[in-house]
Amino acid sequence: MTLTVKKFDTTSSHYDPQGFSDRFALKTTKILRWFADTFFAKRYGNRAIVLETVAAVPGMVGATLTHLRALRRMEDDGGWIRTLMDEAENERMHLMTFIAIAQPSWLERVVILIVQWFFYIGFFFLYLIAPKTAHRLVGYFEEEAVLSYTLYLEEIDAGRHPNILAPDVALHYWDLPQGTMLREVIEIIRADEAHHRDTNHYMADNLAGLEADYAKVASAPLHISMDNHIVIKHSKQ
Ligand SMILES: [Fe+2]
Ligand SMILES: [Fe+2]
Repeated sequence: MTLTVKKFDTTSSHYDPQGFSDRFALKTTKILRWFADTFFAKRYGNRAIVLETVAAVPGMVGATLTHLRALRRMEDDGGWIRTLMDEAENERMHLMTFIAIAQPSWLERVVILIVQWFFYIGFFFLYLIAPKTAHRLVGYFEEEAVLSYTLYLEEIDAGRHPNILAPDVALHYWDLPQGTMLREVIEIIRADEAHHRDTNHYMADNLAGLEADYAKVASAPLHISMDNHIVIKHSKQ
């Protein structure tokens, strides 16, 4: 059976830092990358689970604070709030995809808990004080995410990681045919990250008053919105 999953052009790109705040964002990203490389090495499945729990935070923080600013200033948000909420949901769906494949160890669960506290609070205040730097930081995080998923694909291609059937949650969210393999889903996820990368660099440029062209943002793979997907989470049996 031949599957027709759209191929995406996700050649990695890098935003050259302009000024101190960009260099701060890049340096912070490189330091965090070093920690991730040291902790996970080539365990890309578990790496994806832990890092997606972090990646899903900035969009929601940015959406919340942009929403509050729009209320205070009584001005239009220019579509930023929905875009950032969709980014948070998209990252959470990456997490739902990988959690259907692998389970984190107890140590990873502890790391997730601690990192979420520090990262949520830290990123909240960074966004409050310096939203441009916050978006630049996410842009650099996403550059690294594109690279990590490229390395994950290389592990699969080299036969060091099994290319299993993609989980149902991924088929549903990206509207993929039965029989789609994990490799194709990782390609789509990498394209999502490239879209987040360009969107956040675009937003940072915008806030810095630099010329920014949204047409140059890598297009996002089509996915459904989860807003009509409500189920009762804690029903009494
Ligand atoms: Fe992600
Ligand atoms: Fe991302």
